Amino acid sequence: MGIYDIIPRMKNILYAQSGGVTAVINASACGVIETARANSDNIGKVFAAKNGIIGVLKEELIDTSLESDAAIAALKHTPGGAFGSCRYKLKSIEENKAEYERLIEVLAAHDIGVFMYNGGGDSADTAHKISQVGEKLGYPVQCIGIPKTIDNDLPVTDTCPGFGSAAKYVATSIREASYDIAAMASSSTKVFVMEVMGRHAGWLAAAGGLAREQDADGPHIILFPERAFDKAAFLNKVSAAVKQYGFCSIVVSEGVKDQDGKFLSDNGVRDAFGHAQLGGVAPTIAQLIKQELDLKYHWAVLDYLQRSARHLASQTDVDQAYAVGKAAVEYAIAGKNAVMPVIVRESDAPYKWHIGEAKLADLANVEKMMPANFISEDGFGITQACRDYMLPLIQGEAYPPFINGLPAYVKLKNELCKKIVEETNYASR
Ligand code: F6P
Repeated sequence: MGIYDIIPRMKNILYAQSGGVTAVINASACGVIETARANSDNIGKVFAAKNGIIGVLKEELIDTSLESDAAIAALKHTPGGAFGSCRYKLKSIEENKAEYERLIEVLAAHDIGVFMYNGGGDSADTAHKISQVGEKLGYPVQCIGIPKTIDNDLPVTDTCPGFGSAAKYVATSIREASYDIAAMASSSTKVFVMEVMGRHAGWLAAAGGLAREQDADGPHIILFPERAFDKAAFLNKVSAAVKQYGFCSIVVSEGVKDQDGKFLSDNGVRDAFGHAQLGGVAPTIAQLIKQELDLKYHWAVLDYLQRSARHLASQTDVDQAYAVGKAAVEYAIAGKNAVMPVIVRESDAPYKWHIGEAKLADLANVEKMMPANFISEDGFGITQACRDYMLPLIQGEAYPPFINGLPAYVKLKNELCKKIVEETNYASR
């Protein structure tokens, strides 16, 4: 009997985290593991790959059955990626068959019949490629994606787990900083620039706009990647805000581009997917304001703070992150392949949603930008339609427990399974 003929007796699941982590990706892991534990008649063990797909290639598999129920439950309030994440691009099966044969060797050796990949658009692409392994290479594996990204740029799903919490943190931060600068402006700082992530899409920048309820409130200006940076119009807007309100608070997306389509913050570094490493546009914008308008400024880059701020998570986001993890196990039990559970909105107010099923093929490598009707006519703010969409996503507080004045997060044992596949050069990478 060849290795491809080994059909898993029990559906052992291999769960892996991929791409930039979020404040709630571990709530999805919790949903997967708790649901599998509650269905032990249908599901065998849940293994977790160390550092995403790289852990599968290196046969670094964590046996989650060694973790207590309490530790798994605590994942729901713990940020970061409990098993480690990665940015690693799998070529297609045709381009690199050997890599898939290695994956199959590892899956077969550990009786794994279900592979779950928790990530964004690039990860949906990886999951989609692995879902074809049965058809193209004859190894029966069900591949199920689980959505996640603070960028909120996955198509099909109404929102992406991770976004609601990052959005809440962004809106809270710009509101708080605007109170600060309002107090200082008469004799000191007049401009505050806050940079947020989001790569090519302005969802997180737009979330900053939720903090503005009255005209005088910050942020007075939002710079979106969906609108080419217009220097003259921007500087006029800054001057007008300072004149009218005494100060100007600004949210800028890391993905803002100039009129030629070049990122204002491209530092030349590329990741495994060829994406430019962004970040650092806030000081550029602040310098421009100093140079052209001679106003005192402060700036901040929210960077990893916004995607790890579990202390200010949205309850809605935590619930949705858990629900997609739970649904992934239900899909596994139902024998599905090449699918992803997604959030389907039923209504804005009252906010109602349910989990729907999407095809991985429809999610891989597609980025969903902000719709034009979410950005105000002058290009520097958000519309009511955007508020109606976004407000439900930041509702509810899901505070972690605090011990000694600090959030108490769990660290898993993460014991690796014994390697049973012959060592290959993957093991030393
Ligand atoms: O996960 C998405 C994201 O947070 C983007 O908003 C950001 O540009 C990127 O990840 C940063 O990635 P990394 O942590 O790999 O530098």
